[in-house]
Amino acid sequence: MEKNNRGKFASKIGVILASAGSAVGLGNIWRFPTEAGENGGAAFILIYICCIVLFGLPVMIAEFMIGRHTHADASTAFKKLAPGKLQWHWIGPLGVVAGMMIFSFYSVVAGWTLNYTIQAGLNSFNQMDSTGSQNVFGDYFNRFIADPIWPTICLVVFILLTHYVVAKGIEKGIEHFSKIMMPTLFVLLLVLAGFALTTEGASEGLAFLFQPDFSKINSGVILSAMGQAFFSLSIGLGCLCTYASYFRPNVNLTKTAVSVAGIDTFVAIISGLIIFPAVFSVPGMEPTEGPSLVFVALPNIFRIVFADYPIIAYILPLLFYFLLVLASLTSTISMHELVTAYLHERHHLSRRKATYIVTAVCLFFGILCSLSLGIGREYTIGGMSLFDLFDYLTAKWMLPLGGLFIALFTGWQLDRKVIWEELTNKGKLSFYGFKIFMFLMKFVAPAGILLIFLDQLNVLSFS
Ligand code: PHE
Repeated sequence: MEKNNRGKFASKIGVILASAGSAVGLGNIWRFPTEAGENGGAAFILIYICCIVLFGLPVMIAEFMIGRHTHADASTAFKKLAPGKLQWHWIGPLGVVAGMMIFSFYSVVAGWTLNYTIQAGLNSFNQMDSTGSQNVFGDYFNRFIADPIWPTICLVVFILLTHYVVAKGIEKGIEHFSKIMMPTLFVLLLVLAGFALTTEGASEGLAFLFQPDFSKINSGVILSAMGQAFFSLSIGLGCLCTYASYFRPNVNLTKTAVSVAGIDTFVAIISGLIIFPAVFSVPGMEPTEGPSLVFVALPNIFRIVFADYPIIAYILPLLFYFLLVLASLTSTISMHELVTAYLHERHHLSRRKATYIVTAVCLFFGILCSLSLGIGREYTIGGMSLFDLFDYLTAKWMLPLGGLFIALFTGWQLDRKVIWEELTNKGKLSFYGFKIFMFLMKFVAPAGILLIFLDQLNVLSFS
């Protein structure tokens, strides 16, 4: 019944760019350097890449298959494919809750990028007196995020921007926007990496990124890498399943997944190439500094490197933070769409109403997350602010758990004929890795994810 009026992505390139738009975002440019910095650099990155190949890519292909085959939102999709069998359709709501939680804390950081774009536009960074103490940017950042008003306003504006694009629908909103945004993003990232590699911290930054110290690896690092892989690829919650429900029958799912994972990993590494040389160029700054890296190291570096070229020192930060806003937007759009499609199709609300509800709920939790870093600092749960808690629960537990269920579902429940049809577009494409794919889905992905969980819960003790 819902099939006829569902939107569709018009072109194959639009499909890749929209999916890559969902994947590429703060997860790559802000969260990846933070996690890599806190977890030992190169060794973390190696494990991260293994997680992408072994778990990420297969789960992404599975989400694509499930979405396109059913033409339905993530929850209805499981219901359609396994009617009455076990409670598989709970994967949908689990992802929807995770999507709302991510949208809430993610928009806080996206709001920061909005503020940094404005400040860069006003040339505030170049006017801050950083002579003598290198920490003016750190002080500014800490003061800014603790402020109750301005970050909240930025957050609200950002969520409303997301609302605006989602309200415009699939082709006109999401696809059109991604097609312009993504290529601009690549060009700017490459330009910035080029500049970062000329800084004095470049060699130290490169060593941190590419020379692994295996003694740093333990189960916590592996869980972080796996969580980052799921978070960065936007998988485990049904976002890409929802997007795939708008794919046309001629889209090559495997190729699309490989392109998206490739682009996503590429952008993460390029971001590392921008951030770590910057970090090592600033006296006293450590790669372990956490979420402030992008907001403290970079303004510093723009200042130091381009001291003699005020125009470049003005333009580069402006471009960079603007780009971050756009990259965040293509990701929040997919989170919003996940929940909107769920409410619209599964619970039969009008699309307009669904969009408003998602926006309102995320505004509420987003504001709480933002305040939890400032005036609400004393209120913690398990020692974490709401902001950190949402990040921790989603990336480290809910997304890998969703991935585990999706892998189990695809490997053990889904009809092989459906898998074959989707991978080959009903026989029109050749697909050579079917057995390997099934092996990954049945055994490798579930067992790997489960082992990491169990070890983290200290049921096993490898470390
Ligand atoms: N993958 C996005 C990023 O890297 C974040 C995201 C997570 C988007 C989950 C959708 C779903 O920024």
